[in-house]
Parts: sequence; C-alpha cells; structure tokens
Amino acid sequence: MIKARLLIQTIYISILFLCSTTALAVQGIDGKTHIESQNVETTSIQRYRGFFTPISPVNNLTTEQLKRIALGQTLFEDVNLSHNNKMSCATCHITAKGYADGKSFSQENKGVNKEYNTPSIQYSIYNQYLTWLGAFSTLQEHLDFLITNSTLMNRDWDDLTNQLKTNREYKHLFEQAGYKRISRLSISNAIIAYEASLAIPSRFDFFLLGDVTQLTSQEIKGLDVFITSGCISCHQGTNLGGNLRQKFGVMKDYFPNKISKNRDLGYFNITKNIDDMHLFRVPSLRNVTKTGPYFHDASAKTLEKAIEIMFSYQLGIKASQEDILSIKSFLESLEPVQ
Ligand code: HEC
Ligand code: HEC
Repeated sequence: MIKARLLIQTIYISILFLCSTTALAVQGIDGKTHIESQNVETTSIQRYRGFFTPISPVNNLTTEQLKRIALGQTLFEDVNLSHNNKMSCATCHITAKGYADGKSFSQENKGVNKEYNTPSIQYSIYNQYLTWLGAFSTLQEHLDFLITNSTLMNRDWDDLTNQLKTNREYKHLFEQAGYKRISRLSISNAIIAYEASLAIPSRFDFFLLGDVTQLTSQEIKGLDVFITSGCISCHQGTNLGGNLRQKFGVMKDYFPNKISKNRDLGYFNITKNIDDMHLFRVPSLRNVTKTGPYFHDASAKTLEKAIEIMFSYQLGIKASQEDILSIKSFLESLEPVQ
C-alpha cells in the first residue's frame, strides 16, 4: 500500500517537474534573471493555470443570499449556540486572525487546551478534506460534529432548534433569509453560506485570471521556486492544499522522539492502519501569512521556519534563505483582497 502510494507520488512529481521545466524554458527564467511582472505574458499565465485554479470574484448575489450569509454570520458569532453560553465559532475563528486565533492551542469549553492548532476556515469551502487528519469531507458532516461534540458546542440539534424557535429575532431573520422553518438543515445552510462567502480572491487569483501586474517579480520568483522545488506536488489545486493526505516527514522522521504525542500519529488515529502513520491532510496555503503558529502541533512559530521545515522534511532540500524568502513573498500574494 505505502509503496504503491509512494510510487504514484514519485511518478506524479516527475510529471510535474517535466511540466514545470518546460514552463520555465518558455518563460526564459532559467535562474539567470527574474522577470518583471509586467513582462509575464498571458501564455505563461496559462501554464501556471495548469497547476492552480483561480477563485473568481462573486458579484450580484441576490438579496436572499445576502440575508442567508448575514444570518450565518450571526449564528457563527453567537455564544448562545454553545451549551455553556460562553463559546461561539468566532471564539476560535477570529476575522482579524485570518479566521484562526493566533494561539498554539485554543481552549475547549471546559478550559482544556485543544489537541490541534486551530486552522483558518476562510477557504475551507474549497478543501476536499477537513481538519488536520482530513477526518471529514463536507462542512455539513463536520458541523454536526462541532454542534454535538461535548468539548465544543455540546448541544443536541433538537434542543438548539427549539431554542432558536423561541427567539423572536431569529424567527424574523430565518424568515427574511427565505427559510420556511428553523431546523438543523436551515441552521447549517446559513452557517455554511457564511463560511463560503469568506473565500474571496487574492492577488494571485487576479494574476491567474490574467492581470499580470498583480504579482511583483519577487513573488513570481517565489511561485517558480514553489513549483520547481516540488511544493506543488502536495500543495496544489484551488486551495494550494486541502485535497490530499500525505506523510509529515517524507524524507526524514519529523517525530524522532518515540514518546511523541498521540496526535502526531496522524490519520492512523482514525484507521489504525499502519500505512496511515503520520499522515496529515495537506493544509491550504491560502491566507497562511496570517495564521501562525504553524503545523498541527504549532511546532513552527514563524512562516519562514515552516517553509524551511517543509523543504527539509518533505523534499530533502537544504533551502537557501533566498528561496525561503521568495516563497514567503509568493505566499503573501495569497492574502484575500477586500
Ligand atoms: C475551541 C476552539 C474552536 C471553536 C469554538 C470552534 N472551532 Fe473550528 N476548529 C478548531 C480546531 C482546533 C480545529 C482543527 C481540529 C482538528 O484538526 O481536529 C477546527 C477546525 C474547523 C474547521 C475545519 C477547517 C479545515 O479547513 O480543515 C471548520 C470548517 C471549523 N473548525 C468551523 C467551525 C465552526 C462552524 C464552529 C462553530 C460551530 C467552530 N469551528 C468552533 C477550533 C475551534
Ligand atoms: C509530500 C507532501 C508535501 C510537500 C512536498 C510539501 N508540503 Fe507543506 N505540508 C504538507 C503537510 C502534510 C503539512 C501539514 C503538516 C502538519 O502539520 O502535520 C504541510 C504544511 C505546510 C505548511 C504549514 C501550514 C499551516 O497552516 O500550518 C506550510 C507553510 C507549508 N506546508 C509549505 C510548504 C512549502 C513552501 C513546500 C515546498 C518547499 C511544501 N510545503 C512542501 C505536505 C507537503
């Protein structure tokens, strides 16, 4: 199993390398110089689009859709959704912190630290797998877990639904948003509509959509290093991640201390299959400049450190400071544009 997976991975990386080498030859950036952003031709943008699918801006939402999003935000920020009336989704997913919370570990409702670092949810709608282990594949499935889990909202859906039904304000908001009744489905639909509305384009998306002036030459250099070094083999697609589970520590053991924590066993925790040892969902790199500390265990305090660790443990490369900084610049172009 693991051999087959590694083989497929190797073939896949080789194909990507071949593609990216061709892309570079055509662009004429063979290490000697780096191109000025205004010189990037549309043809080379087409080549980048072979690796990434951009997010397009969404305009002309209907009034009903806007009301659903607003209702979703109200629910997301309402502490009364939790059993102890103290915790809302926004307690840990804070707008100003890129919808993470900037802490190593957030506190659960009983004051205990969570096992995993809190990730950003801004682009979760584009993740094929959710959570560090990739334990869920839809926001609905995951929301059911969050509402009912005893360490979080600790609610019963019926109980929550009945509570909202007796609240005149909510009755009005649900009606205005076009929902016939307050139910598990309409509550979830509104929260998920809000989450989806957060996934707005970045400068990198506008670049991929054809506006070559969006990225500086340093950012394009970082993008090229990201592709040619092989980061792209795992951080790919619309979210530059979110669609694969991969071992953390491909080239060397990231958890050499054998009494490492249970959480470090990765997807093995769910399947108990030895092949899944240390497998984690490849996280999205959108918005990543705002969501430190990094990794499931918050073991990298800065983005530079996280990039250096990825080079070393995932690719077996001792990275130059220049490459680390250019990739960091590229990642800055993934910040959402208001
Ligand atoms: C106490 C802090 C806390 C609260 C409250 C909280 N979350 Fe989270 N959230 C986390 C942590 C930690 C994770 C990662 C869990 C894991 O990987 O197992 C997470 C993961 C997620 C993810 C998956 C992100 C991804 O792309 O993989 C979503 C979506 C999410 N939360 C939404 C919500 C919603 C909606 C609420 C409110 C109902 C909520 N969260 C409440 C801490 C919190
Ligand atoms: C073999 C697959 C693979 C490759 C190659 C890879 N990554 Fe990762 N990356 C992962 C996985 C898996 C994680 C999650 C690790 C964890 O915390 O358990 C991750 C996490 C990260 C994070 C932290 C994200 C966060 O929110 O905490 C950053 C930043 C990152 N990678 C950047 C890169 C860069 C830059 C490269 C190329 C130099 C790269 N990665 C190469 C699989 C990979």
